[in-house]
Amino acid sequence: MLFVTAGLGGMSGAQPKAGNIAGVVSVTAEINPLAAEKRYDQGWVDELHYNLDELIPAIRKAVADKRTVSMAYVGNVVDLWERLAAEDMHVDLGSDQTSLHNPWAGGYYPVGLTLEESKQMMAEDPDKFKECVRESLRRQCAAINKLADKGMYFFDYGNAFLLESSRAGADIMTPDGKFRYPSYVQDIMGPMFFDYGFGPFRWVCTSGDPKDLETTDRLAAQVLEEIRKDAPEDIQGQMDDNIHWIKEAGPNHLVVGSQARILYADAEGRAKIALAFNDAIRSGELSAPVVLGRDHHDVSGTDSPFRETSNIYDGSQFCADMAVQNVIGDSFRGATWVSIHNGGGVGWGEVINGGFGMAIDGSEDSARHIREMLFWDVNNGIARRSWARNKGSMDAIRREMERTPELTVTMPNLVDDDVIDNAVTIF
Ligand SMILES: NC(=O)c1ccc[n+]([C@@H]2O[C@H](COP(=O)([O-])OP(=O)(O)OC[C@H]3O[C@@H](n4cnc5c(N)ncnc54)[C@H](O)[C@@H]3O)[C@@H](O)[C@H]2O)c1
Repeated sequence: MLFVTAGLGGMSGAQPKAGNIAGVVSVTAEINPLAAEKRYDQGWVDELHYNLDELIPAIRKAVADKRTVSMAYVGNVVDLWERLAAEDMHVDLGSDQTSLHNPWAGGYYPVGLTLEESKQMMAEDPDKFKECVRESLRRQCAAINKLADKGMYFFDYGNAFLLESSRAGADIMTPDGKFRYPSYVQDIMGPMFFDYGFGPFRWVCTSGDPKDLETTDRLAAQVLEEIRKDAPEDIQGQMDDNIHWIKEAGPNHLVVGSQARILYADAEGRAKIALAFNDAIRSGELSAPVVLGRDHHDVSGTDSPFRETSNIYDGSQFCADMAVQNVIGDSFRGATWVSIHNGGGVGWGEVINGGFGMAIDGSEDSARHIREMLFWDVNNGIARRSWARNKGSMDAIRREMERTPELTVTMPNLVDDDVIDNAVTIF
């Protein structure tokens, strides 16, 4: 498969690694040579290409040879998309992870200008710069549309690409006023992961010792493999992907700073993995305490109508109650610290995020905190998603009530939309 995208920055730089672990040919455009070369030096991208005439045949060859390889195109992504469209190349997957949540101040560089020219125009003629960004987005969408018409699956990566393209007047809307392409939360993350409680659980080995991280990877894989044996069919795919990921994480050298790992897991998985770490700290198999946490881009911690809660269709995605309730619950169920903040990823005023850290030291207290807090931190959001009648969440919370008899969550009553519509007419 061929995956084409943009951005080798702070977060977007993960894309080529993900491509390699998934076994595809990936091409990521990055306009800033320093960012691209840094990712290459760190081993996060395999090849650097500065010239489209040389890149295109390299892509064709890699796809034909069925190689797993990540290529960086050092240049503007619009030039790349337009060339792929002109060459009529088949692209399987497409996305974009430039910083379009911040389009006017260096998040997105318009086609036709060098990085330096962009910076200068941004400062000296911001109105002209805005028009260049809009024109660039219109061209980018036109090329993407051509490839999508030939079968490419394109998705928004949570960087406001669709939103900014629509504001720029790009051909990105359907006649009934919806976006032409799905957002990855509505199409993928929500229904396949968050609704079931799968989210970015993570931990840091405070010893700073790579051997400790290796041990945690092994323990996590063992726990997931055990859970996988009896996992219901609708989450077996997620379990397989996560087992594959955690086994590949070490060999793919993902660590660039702290000895830390991120691993998608559901409520059961997170608690069992954390308890296994706690046991290992107590027995000395791990040499020092571990700090547990998670990203805000998760099941319960964030209310964000344009991203994390965008697949909640009962109208409640615009409320900020879940993040607040969640962080308060975390605070007295055992978190070592909690945070509540605004703006993460999609911009100020658009989102409320909550987070936590939990230091575990092998003690019985730590085990209790893990059982009580991680349970709440995931199931709270599943309950909300279930009240919104999301099918996966209704199944997941029913399963949790079977596993945990002292838990009672009210279930929604499913009503045919016609009944509601007719009732409204009558009243
Ligand atoms: N989906 C997720 O889970 C997730 C996670 C984190 C961040 N994000 C979003 O992804 C976006 C990127 O995050 P980041 O931390 O990597 O930002 P970043 O600013 O560090 O990186 C973006 C990169 O895109 C490059 N770029 C900009 N315009 C370009 C163009 N036209 N052609 C080629 N390259 C171009 C920039 O030079 C930069 O290196 C943000 O909007 C962020 O909110 C999504």
